[in-house]
Amino acid sequence: MQIEFSALDLPASGAVVFLVEKDKELSGLAAEADKAAGGALTKAMKSSRFTGDSGQSLQVVAPSGIAAERVLLLGAGDLSKVSELDVVEMGGSAAAALLGSGSDTATIIAEGLDAVALGEGALLRSYRFDKYRTKEPEAKKPTLKKVVVATADAKASDAFAGRKAVADGVFLTRDLVSEPGNTLHPESFAERIQELSAEGIDVEVLGEAEMAKLGMGSLLAVGQGSEKESKLAIMRWNGADKDDQPIAFVGKGVTFDTGGISLKPGEGMDMMKWDMGGAGTVVGLMKALAGRKAKVNAVGIVGLVENMPSGNAQRPGDVVTSMSGQTIEVLNTDAEGRLVLADALWYCQDRYKPKFMIDLATLTGAMIISLGHEHAGIFTDSDEIAEGLAKAGADTGDKVWRMPLHKNYDKLIDCPTADMKNIGGRGAGSITAAQFLKRFTNEVPWCHIDIAGTVWSDKDLPLSEKGGTGYGVRLLDKFVADNHEG
Ligand code: BES
Ligand code: MN
Ligand code: ZN
Repeated sequence: MQIEFSALDLPASGAVVFLVEKDKELSGLAAEADKAAGGALTKAMKSSRFTGDSGQSLQVVAPSGIAAERVLLLGAGDLSKVSELDVVEMGGSAAAALLGSGSDTATIIAEGLDAVALGEGALLRSYRFDKYRTKEPEAKKPTLKKVVVATADAKASDAFAGRKAVADGVFLTRDLVSEPGNTLHPESFAERIQELSAEGIDVEVLGEAEMAKLGMGSLLAVGQGSEKESKLAIMRWNGADKDDQPIAFVGKGVTFDTGGISLKPGEGMDMMKWDMGGAGTVVGLMKALAGRKAKVNAVGIVGLVENMPSGNAQRPGDVVTSMSGQTIEVLNTDAEGRLVLADALWYCQDRYKPKFMIDLATLTGAMIISLGHEHAGIFTDSDEIAEGLAKAGADTGDKVWRMPLHKNYDKLIDCPTADMKNIGGRGAGSITAAQFLKRFTNEVPWCHIDIAGTVWSDKDLPLSEKGGTGYGVRLLDKFVADNHEG
């Protein structure tokens, strides 16, 4: 979708969008258009239940007297109370309502509202993953190609560039998450990451031999049943002074999770193509940071493996030795994400000595039981990180909820055979998984984000269509912008 900014005028063609305040008469350009149309807009509002409440919308097609081919009235609620996120979501609603309307251009009249935020929302909501749909009838394809935001703010276009860069990061994440397991596997994923060198990101990819040399027995065990070679990809964005200590993001990149020998049931197993969502988010975030030239040094590390059952797969009961030297009894091969992250986290702190590490992972089904699809769970001992993420989450709509860590949960993964086992008991599955990761952080400030419930959506959301959400890119971009730049 192309997003442009123009002067504050009614468009000569396409669709026009007016944001209508709750229980108020039409004002400004909307009132002008209404007058030109002989009061058709007011009449349409009175003839329906449209009051301007947020979430409401009303389309008036081809009103005579005005040039636009259709008018979309969008409820803005009480303008004295709307947040920036509300405005972003209004842009999203405008795009959603008009994507398949027949119009190819929509002009959103941004009188008294943040034009940049409206443009951002429209852009984010317009993404569609349709590369494998070869037979979709023309009549069902989206028609909208361009959104113009009409505004008195002459600086909007320049200010939008940064948002556009972040949206491009979100789209990369959605692309990766949507891609099926046969086309996105550890090798092809690593190649996609290599393409980021064009954005000024340094990329390095380790293969199995290099990881074996480093002693990454935990990560390697997960991928050993796969025909594809496991990879560890390292991305570096250097946007600050070269001596500045970096911040680090680590992602779980299980390109397909069958469960391994502890095989998952068939029903719904296709979902496990997005078990690389943590890695997808880290990659999209790195692209976003580079795209907007963030003044920060950031490292992104993703462990890329495929968890398959085969004659060479690891067995329940196997004991593996991680890069940290700690041994793990693998009691369930389906608790594989933590095995991947154990070595990725250890490697990250060992090599980069970062200020902090934040890992993202579709780690546990239990996370969905706890928080559903609204919030991701965050696990950290750092109040500073937790508070920063909570604020960034509220601001971007990528919401987080803090979960506990405690030594008593840590005890649940102690084991008589090895230093630890890779599963806890029946309860608190997301927490015992986080406690497991904590044992590989070497006391570097750290936060784990379990995104099992938020990577994918089975329904349309304000800023994304059903499918990959790109959750976490805007969250972490905002977290970095607010706390770690300049
Ligand atoms: N990738 C899954 C977690 C998951 C499940 C994410 C469903 C999204 C939806 C993870 O590797 C896994 O299988 N976890 C197990 C852990 C268990 C064996 C301790 C789980 O959650 O069942
Ligand atoms: Mn699993
Ligand atoms: Zn998994």
